[in-house]
Amino acid sequence: MKLTWYAHATLGLETGGYRLLIDPFFSGNPATTVKASQVEADFILVTHGHGDHIGDAAPIAKRTGATVISNFEIADWIAKHGVKSHGQHLGGGFKHPFGYLKLTQALHGSAMPDGSYGGNPCGFLLTTNDGQKAYFAGDTGLFGDMALIGEEGLDLAVIPIGDNFTMGPADALRAVKLLHPRVVVPIHYSTFGLIDQDAQAWAGQVEAASTTKVVVLKPGESFEL
Ligand code: NI
Ligand code: MN
Repeated sequence: MKLTWYAHATLGLETGGYRLLIDPFFSGNPATTVKASQVEADFILVTHGHGDHIGDAAPIAKRTGATVISNFEIADWIAKHGVKSHGQHLGGGFKHPFGYLKLTQALHGSAMPDGSYGGNPCGFLLTTNDGQKAYFAGDTGLFGDMALIGEEGLDLAVIPIGDNFTMGPADALRAVKLLHPRVVVPIHYSTFGLIDQDAQAWAGQVEAASTTKVVVLKPGESFEL
């Protein structure tokens, strides 16, 4: 799989010839120069309803024909914008063309930008068609059941470190110890001042305290796993 970080929580994932976008926040994102009109997608995964995550999901899905996958409430909300969607819910998995996708719990909120109810926030556990396992935590605080997700045998975990709205660096280090992924990628930091963090310093702490490799990406940068 190839993972691209577009700053904040916005990710591109290529696997088995499918192009996925996760939490596509381009318009108004101060940390990316990429425009919503420039990205392609077959599927768009949305972790929760906050504006910095649902972002440009509707216009990108309309333009590209991508299917939006999220919790039932958000799938229903975005379908009213004339977009194809697929609703799941926490603990439920489904075999999509790109792999088996399960929704995981996240400790956060999920109101939609228009104030309507966005259900429960989620993370995603993806098993690709060639058997790689990737966990995208979404916006969340630390929770002990990350240990259950870790039992899956993760090749990759993508977790927030920004603090204030999500786990900060100290709890994100504890999350790595529960998840014990082969590789971890920190996100949801330094988009704006409130969540400024030193990802390189965090990487040093994680690599000193665990066997997990940390990949710190610059906005727009990719890596292959
Ligand atoms: Ni949020
Ligand atoms: Mn957020």
